Formats: sequence, structure tokens, C-alpha cells
Amino acid sequence: MSQTATIEPQAGTRAIPFEDYRDLSDAELDERIEAVRRAMGDSLLILGHHYQQDQVIRHADLRGDSYKLSQLAAESATCRSIVFCGVHFMAETADILARDEVAVYLPDLSAGCSMADMADLDAVEAAWSDLGEIIETGEVTPVTYINSSADLKAFCGRHGGIVCTSSNARAVLEWSFARRRRVLFFPDQHLGRNTARTMGIPVDEMPVWDPRQPLGGNPPETIQAARVLLWRGHCSVHQMFRPEHVAMFRQRFPDGPVLVHPECMMKVVDAADLVGSTEFIIQTIEKAPAGSIWGVGTELHLVNRLAHEHPEQTVHFLSPMVCMCATMYRIDLPHLAWCLENLARNTPVNRIQVDLETAAWARTALERMLEVR
Ligand code: 13P
Ligand code: SF4
Repeated sequence: MSQTATIEPQAGTRAIPFEDYRDLSDAELDERIEAVRRAMGDSLLILGHHYQQDQVIRHADLRGDSYKLSQLAAESATCRSIVFCGVHFMAETADILARDEVAVYLPDLSAGCSMADMADLDAVEAAWSDLGEIIETGEVTPVTYINSSADLKAFCGRHGGIVCTSSNARAVLEWSFARRRRVLFFPDQHLGRNTARTMGIPVDEMPVWDPRQPLGGNPPETIQAARVLLWRGHCSVHQMFRPEHVAMFRQRFPDGPVLVHPECMMKVVDAADLVGSTEFIIQTIEKAPAGSIWGVGTELHLVNRLAHEHPEQTVHFLSPMVCMCATMYRIDLPHLAWCLENLARNTPVNRIQVDLETAAWARTALERMLEVR
């Protein structure tokens, strides 16, 4: 795309209010979004997560899972603005990894992640200090899933720890165990447990740390014997998949493999044939022989898109319930158009900016992750 000047507002001009976009038709919103993309050219990069609704993802320049999107933000060479169609922690990560002159925007600030909200800095620092009463914290690597706030990534950076995503969790745990004998894994207990089990760590050496209880709800001997301390957090979308859904699918389609995301509970992962990140799920369906039948346990918009884009396969959503990421869904056409038009006229809204000190330590933990894979 070519780079063209954007419309400059008069001094003191206020941002256009969101209300002006609420009642516009989809066709008009599509047209106005594309007009901004044309006008801003290479200075604008729209990134979209695979769980985003179709109406929105079609306007993204690039799409990916959390890992790929963080790489894309780190590698973006020409843009001055990134508009992130995803959730808050993803936009923060882009702000930390992108060049200093790049500003990152999230079209709706209420697009958070309920899992990321299950761990905060105060609670993790309290846990770290409690652990220090029982074991040597110098032998614990803090590992945060990328679904976490920037200050938790910075905590990991400061304490010799690292970030992981669902596509590199095993490599990150190997990196961690090569350095120290224990891991404190937050905020997703399921990703931590499912991954550490593939490395032969028994479940009874992975106690759950409940931040609302003294010593996480564990007797001191359990902590002394622990290899992985699993924060009591989960994804409200993926926890809705149950082992009985796998059984129901197998009854209907005995030859159809079941493919699930590692944020699902252990019993679901045990019952499935394949487990892997969003990117793994997409590639598995893409590479499968025509005519195969799949039961897929991950976010609804992605599964529907896979079914639509691969008519040569039969792709079924694994659960009888609607499991969609309601926060991701808040990024809709009106918010995207509102954010883009304000950016183009130099009255930007919803900038995500991590303070410099937090960003520096968080970058340390993220760069360790990017070097691992
Ligand atoms: P991915 O790392 O697979 O993109 O997952 C992100 C996420 O939020 C899954 O719920
Ligand atoms: Fe967070 Fe779950 Fe939504 Fe992913 S699907 S962004 S973990 S709430």
C-alpha cells in the first residue's frame, strides 16, 4: 500500500465520539475502514487474532495466534501505528515489542481476558514471598502465560523468568528446568499441567496455588515436593469443554479425531486425539486429507471459520454449548471504524502504552521467550 498524508484536525479538535458509529450499517463501516487503510498505507498495521469475528478479521493486514502476533509486532518495520484486533494483553505485548516510534491502539478498551485478570502483581508478589518461607525462591523460575498483564511479565523478567504461549509452552518449561528445578506457572493451571505432564512430571508434584488461601492452600511438605506450582486460573471459554463432549462426539463419529487447545482441562486433553495451540489446530485441519471429520475444542469463531474455509473437511464444534470469547467479540466494526478514523484525523483514541520501566523488564521476559523458539 502507498503512504499518503492523513487528514489533520484543527488545533483543539476533539475526537469523534463513539456514538456517531453505533447506528451505521456494516456496508458503510466496511467502506470507511477500508478508506482509512488506503489513506494511511504502510504507516498503519492492523493485527488480528484468530478468535476475532469474521467481519473484523477481514480488515486485518496480518492474523495469527498470540505467539505469531507478538513476533509480527516485534518485526514490524514500516508502520507508525498498530491497531490491535485482539484483547488487552495482546496490545500491551505489541507495545512492548514494537519499535519505540510505534503507537498501539485497542479499538475497545473493555476487550480484556478473564484469565489474565485471575492473577495480579500483588497476589503474585505475595505468593512469591510466601513460597520464600518454605523453599528457596532462587530455585523457582516464574513463568507467565502471555495471557497476563505487562507487570506480571515484568515480574518474570526481574526474577529470571520467562513468558510462554500455548505454542511454545513445552520449550519454555524445558528452558526453565535447565536452569532451576521448580516453576511457578501463572495464570493458567491447565496449560501448565497439560504441558508439564508431557514432560513426565507427575500430577502430584504440581499442586494448585490458590491465591486466596494461606500458602496457596497447601501444606509445607506439598510445596517442598513441588516441581510446578500451578496458579489457580483458567480460561472461561476453554473450561466449558467437558470429557462427556468428547464421548458424545466419538459416539456419533467413531473415526473422527478430536483436536483441542491446551487451555482445556486435563480430562478433556486425555480424551482427545490431538492437543495444540491455535496455529497447530489451523495447520492440522489444513493438512488433513479431504473427507476427514473433526471434533474441535477451541473458540467458536475460529472453529466456524475453519469449517467454512475447509468445505473438503467436516469440522464440528466439540461442545453443545456456545463457547466464544465474549471479550474478543467486543472488537466490532463500529469500534474499529471509530478507532481508525480518529487515528487518521490525528485525534487518536484508546492508545495502549506500558510505562518504560515495566516495559523494559517485560521485554526481557518476552525476548527470552522469542529466543527459545
Ligand atoms: P493462542 O496462544 O493459541 O493464540 O491462544 C490465545 C488465547 O487467548 C487462547 O485462549
Ligand atoms: Fe482469555 Fe480465554 Fe478469551 Fe483467550 S479465549 S482471550 S484465554 S478469555
